[in-house]
Order: sequence, then structure tokens, then C-alpha cells
Amino acid sequence: MLVDVKPIHKMCGTKAVDVGAALGMVIDALCEDSVDLSRLRVVCDWVQYKGNFRQAVDLRPILAPGTDLRSGNGTAPPAEEIELAIDLRRCDNGGDDGGGNGGVKEAVRSALGGNEAAGRGEQQGSPARIELEDWMPTSRSCIWSFNALYWQALDLWEQSTGRRYEQALPGGESDARNRDAVRELIADMLEGFDDLAARNALPEELYVVELGVGNGNQAKVWLDEFAAADSAHGTEYYRRLQYLMCDYSPHVLGMARGAVADHAEHVSSFVLDATVPTTALGFLRSKVFLAYISNVYDNLPTEEVARIGGRSYRVEARACLAQRDVAELAEYASAGEVAVPGLIRKLLRLGPPLLVEAMPEHFRDVGTAVGFWQRAWQALTLAERYVPLPGLDTYQVAPGVGGEVLRPLLESGNDLRMHVNNGAVASFVDTIGLLHPYGRLLCHDLFVTDTQQYRTGFRGPGKYDGSVVNWVNGPLLELIGSRKGFDVCYAPFAHRTGTNIITMTARVRD
Ligand SMILES: C[S@@+](CC[C@H](N)C(=O)[O-])C[C@H]1O[C@@H](n2cnc3c(N)ncnc32)[C@H](O)[C@@H]1O
Repeated sequence: MLVDVKPIHKMCGTKAVDVGAALGMVIDALCEDSVDLSRLRVVCDWVQYKGNFRQAVDLRPILAPGTDLRSGNGTAPPAEEIELAIDLRRCDNGGDDGGGNGGVKEAVRSALGGNEAAGRGEQQGSPARIELEDWMPTSRSCIWSFNALYWQALDLWEQSTGRRYEQALPGGESDARNRDAVRELIADMLEGFDDLAARNALPEELYVVELGVGNGNQAKVWLDEFAAADSAHGTEYYRRLQYLMCDYSPHVLGMARGAVADHAEHVSSFVLDATVPTTALGFLRSKVFLAYISNVYDNLPTEEVARIGGRSYRVEARACLAQRDVAELAEYASAGEVAVPGLIRKLLRLGPPLLVEAMPEHFRDVGTAVGFWQRAWQALTLAERYVPLPGLDTYQVAPGVGGEVLRPLLESGNDLRMHVNNGAVASFVDTIGLLHPYGRLLCHDLFVTDTQQYRTGFRGPGKYDGSVVNWVNGPLLELIGSRKGFDVCYAPFAHRTGTNIITMTARVRD
């Protein structure tokens, strides 16, 4: 049996987590069971996000190469090995977090009683979790439909909780609103404009694109500062400025337009998917001086890959609800338990207001539908399994980006599980094609800057209110950028101390 404890900072100091006690209980529970310990890996994380998709104890089948995933008789394909995943935060103090998880031993027994039987290909008894979808790469799970719904119906969520989305971001507000950071960026851009103007090479229109604009506060700060800096500089760059705000949520874009009303003549807005900006912005190829993105890459669909015992795997997931949560949701919506997955699918397709119109017998008003949405989201967990990758060349990271690019990171030595950030990679690759040769892509976000960080901490997914957060694989973007002739560099966000936010800058290599 292999035990992998992530060397988290919580293992040291006066309030250190009692790893020994938690593991002792896990081992006790395992020894009471008939599980084959020679096929077991125990992996201990500290999941810092209070809202997340994991149970205190999860079981993940590791499938054998060549496994037929289409076995149609309702039983799960047999697992070659089993991974028992422990969240040390919730398994400290015996694992009873007051949230109904019971003790560690109970959690291990219950995990072994459900998934492990499935891992051995045996018939399960009455299921502890109800599945909402089939196994699939996590980037296609319905958690992303929940994420999209959150941004489409943000006003309803925020009204109901009384919290603004920004309060869930690192530091409680977007760092893109930081005026010192914006001034520094703009000063550097003005210098670049001057250089080009001196050579008669500055185009008449100066394009800036922002992807994922949220409430528009950062656009407003940027535009205010640009207008002021240009005026002080004695140039007419502001007159020539075109600021394009882009988001996939019409509601969010409407809010952002309101925030920048003072600059209306210089702003236009586009409903588009940040993973394929050229669908609407293709006319800007090689024309954009700044592509500006903050707290968006960590919100785009991603899946993970893993290296375990010298083999590469893709992580597949399926969204589930605990049986007790299904019972509560059924009671809340005056429906039978079997109807709950269907009600959730309808909610994701229609959104709360139309759901009320379609199903008044279950949802008497929008507030009730929002309550159902929030309860379902809070209860949502992901079951996971490892599916062998026959070869990295069979895997696609994003359109036009093959899986081979993962090799130097994934096969760098130890066992590793890391994000691919498929949505962020797609967005990055599509966006850099829009950049003027003197342009830059600037992104404030949660970046992993060294693959080793995947071994020393939990990098998502977590839940920020109604949205999903995953750290972004910086070394991967750097590799991809480099192959496309771009220098990608990372620096800690310089204008707030103690933040995890990193600023990424990508520019055409000199
Ligand atoms: C966490 S907010 C960040 C907002 C703002 N940039 C900030 O820093 O406060 C994420 C924004 O990205 C948008 N977004 C998420 N996924 C998107 C996608 N696939 N395409 C376009 N916009 C997306 C959301 O609608 C939301 O406005």
C-alpha cells in the first residue's frame, strides 16, 4: 500500500493537522475491511476551499490499460488499483466536521462499501450517491453548466445571498481594479505608442480587448486611468482608443456597460465565449495592443491528467448527489426523489425564471427556484476515476494543441496530478493571434508557476459562490506560448501583499 501525503504547510506549527491520527483511523478502517491493500493508494490533500466537489473520503478506481469503457451491463469496469483520497481538513479531529460527514472510519467504510465494490466489478447495494451524468472528462461535466448559469443569472444569485461575486475572489475584490497596477501598465503602453508614433507605425485605432468583464469595474478603472494618463502625456491616444468588452453572459455585459457609461464612445461589447474569441473578433487579427483578462482563466472548463506508477491517465468525473441531499431536494421541490436529476437538468437548461413557468407545481416563484439551484450546487460532488491514456499523442489539450506538449511536465519524475486548463489554453492560443507585434496579453489569476506546486497543495476545483475555480497551469501555457513564438512570464501581483494572484504577460518573442 502506498501512502502519499502532500507536504502542506498545515503539517507544521502550533495548529498543525494531526496527520498521524487521521491516517491511523484510515488504516484501522481499512484493516477491518476485506480490501486488498496491495492494490491501494492512499492520497492525502488539504482542500482549502470550504465549498468543493469532494467528500471527506473519496474512492477512485484506477483502470487497467485496454479496459473496455463501454461495458453495457450496468457494472463498472474492474479497477487495477484503487485510490483512497482523504481531505485532511475534514478528517482532522476524527473527521466529524459537524457537517454530517461522521467520523473518518465511517467515511472510509462507506466509500469502500459503495465505489470499491463497483471497482471490483461487483453489484452495489442501495447507492449512497445518485449520479447525474455518465463518466466523462471533467471539462465536460455539468458543473460547467452550473458555472455558466451562475454568470447568466448572477443578479438572482446575488440578490438571494446578499453577496457580490467579487467578495469570493482572492482579496475580496478584483486586483484588476488596483489603480497603481493599472497606471504602471498604461505608462508602459504609452511609451510603446510613442515609439511607434515616432516611426509613423502607430495605427489610427488602438484596440484593447477585455475577456470576462464581470461588473465592469476593472474596465472603468482602466479607462479612467488611460484618459487621465493620456491627457497628462499631451497625446491623443484616448481619442483613438477602442475598448472591446467581451463576456459570454449578456447580463454581465449589460452591467459592465453601465459601469463604463462615461466612456461609451470608446467602448463596444461582444457576447462571446472566451475560449474562442476569434469567432467575433477575427477582424482584429494582429491589431490588439492589450488583451486584458483577470480571474477568468481559473473559471474556464478544465480537466486533469495524472502520472501514476509510470503510466499516464486522464481523470474522468461524474457529478453526483448524496442520497440524503436528493431526499432534501425532493422535499424542497415537492417532487419524488427519482425526479430530482431531471429537475436539475431542466434548471440548467432553462434558468430559474423559465423553470417556474415550466414547472409551477414544483417551483411557486423565482426565489424558490433559486433556492433549489443553490441547494443542488452546494450538495454537488464529483466522483472520479483514472482512465489510462494509450499515448499522449491520442490526447487533445485544445483545438490545434496536441497532448505531446504535456510530456515534459507530466513525465518529470514523481507521480503527479495536474490541470490541463483546456479552456484557458484554447483561449490563450486564440487570443495571441489577435495581438499586434507590439501588443501583450496580460492576465491576473491564480497560476501554478512550477509543476512541483501540484504536489504541495490542492489547486482546485473549488466552489466560489456559484462558480468553479481551478488554478491555472502556468508552465503549460509557457511551453505552448514558446512553441508559438511568444515569451510568457509570471510575476507575483506587485500591488497587494500576501496575495496568491500572479500576473502573466505574453508578448511576441524579440
Ligand atoms: C470571476 S469573474 C471575473 C470578472 C472580472 N474580470 C474581475 O476580475 O472581477 C469571471 C468572468 O468571466 C466570465 N466568463 C466565464 N466563463 C466565460 C466564457 N467561457 N466566455 C466568456 N466569459 C466567461 C464570467 O461571465 C465573468 O464575467
